[in-house]
Amino acid sequence: MAEARGSWSPSTWQERPARQQPVWPDPAALEASLKQIGTMPPLVFAGEARSLQADLAQVASGNAFLLQAGDCAESFEEFSADNIREKLRVILQMAIILTYSVGVPVIKVGRIAGQFAKPRSSDTERVGDLDLPTFRGHIVNDPTASEAARVPDPQRLVHAYHQSASTLNLLRAFTKGGFADLSRVHAWTQEFVASSPEGRRYEQLAAEISRGLAFMRACGIDTESNPNLSQVDVYTSHEALILGYEEALTRQDSLTGGWFDCSAHMLWIGERTRELEGAHVEFLRGVGNPIGCKIGPDTQPEYVLELCEALNPSRIPGRLTLITRMGADKIEDGLQPLLRIITDAGHPVVWACDPMHANTFTAPTGHKTRHFDDIVREIRGFVRAHRSEGTWPGGIHVELTGENVTECLGGADALSDTDLDHRYETVCDPRLNARQSVDLAFRVAELVSEFT
Ligand code: PEP
Ligand code: CO
Repeated sequence: MAEARGSWSPSTWQERPARQQPVWPDPAALEASLKQIGTMPPLVFAGEARSLQADLAQVASGNAFLLQAGDCAESFEEFSADNIREKLRVILQMAIILTYSVGVPVIKVGRIAGQFAKPRSSDTERVGDLDLPTFRGHIVNDPTASEAARVPDPQRLVHAYHQSASTLNLLRAFTKGGFADLSRVHAWTQEFVASSPEGRRYEQLAAEISRGLAFMRACGIDTESNPNLSQVDVYTSHEALILGYEEALTRQDSLTGGWFDCSAHMLWIGERTRELEGAHVEFLRGVGNPIGCKIGPDTQPEYVLELCEALNPSRIPGRLTLITRMGADKIEDGLQPLLRIITDAGHPVVWACDPMHANTFTAPTGHKTRHFDDIVREIRGFVRAHRSEGTWPGGIHVELTGENVTECLGGADALSDTDLDHRYETVCDPRLNARQSVDLAFRVAELVSEFT
């Protein structure tokens, strides 16, 4: 077991090796940007992070389901009200399908309002006949294929802060201001989804919900002014990769004296930065937000136990979400020993399935893609592993967009290699489009309902 760790402050991560940090060419400019962010208002408030943790505690005990979804990487260029609204629509549709079919509350967490930074497997990439520094997300550099565009620019940190603030502002407006009212369940369907088989299936479910609401009203229940029906909570999350940025937004809660990373409600550690003695584990162990960690196919059970001890020594339910991403072929057998050791040790974690990141391959057209069937297969293996260990398959973590893109293969449309060129718009990994996402929600609902 790892030794008890020393005292923590928002900057103790700086004493540890930090992987995946950009090499900023001008340290004074970096410091100026971070100082500026350090004086700006927090994006979220500690009480909200605590509410999410309480919701996740319900997931940990098998009484709720987590839907974490959004872009692989948000873009400075594709930034618009439409884009945010379309993503929210799909998340609301998926959540309603899951809530109705599984019969438990669905906790909605977006990969949104701060999901900019990308870990990369290599520092350089070949584009045409150029060897360029890799693109690390719009918070760091520009994807244009030139040496100058790829130079990390600390002004981008400030830009990311402002974009996160306005995204979050619109999300709050939509989720609290009427857009997410359950009586509008029909209006969340987009035209290109409505005409499809999965769209029609959604319409049927929405009609049943509308009938239920009419029945409740007929019984004298006021469904119009009940905030449980007229508003939703959509929390924000991102990978806490660029630690200087996260530190600058880490603030002391005036109510409890605890430290919270106020850049998002939930933060996670990626597969490439989760070493026990590294800077990312050090940073996140000290903040009071609920946190997550990706768990890849080669993870040893003893390591996962040490990670739980490091990140959640007090065993607070909802504090820690383990997001497995092992691949469709490996998940069922790979997950079982992890479930056993963590359950035996009494750690109250949320188990979530990321069925995207270990099922990525390059299509003959050169596009990075994923097949819808592999995504469903990984979730099926995840649910099966939980069934054999008697644990709760707590949620899914997926990359999607509300647009009608062609980035993942398969689905009801049977998108094939040759369709990828049509609308391949992601700034990083391939995302499910709105139809594939709605279809996936029905599949997950079936798999998890069989379980309950
Ligand atoms: C991601 O979530 O976009 C990502 C890079 O995942 P992972 O760390 O699991 O590879
Ligand atoms: Co990704």
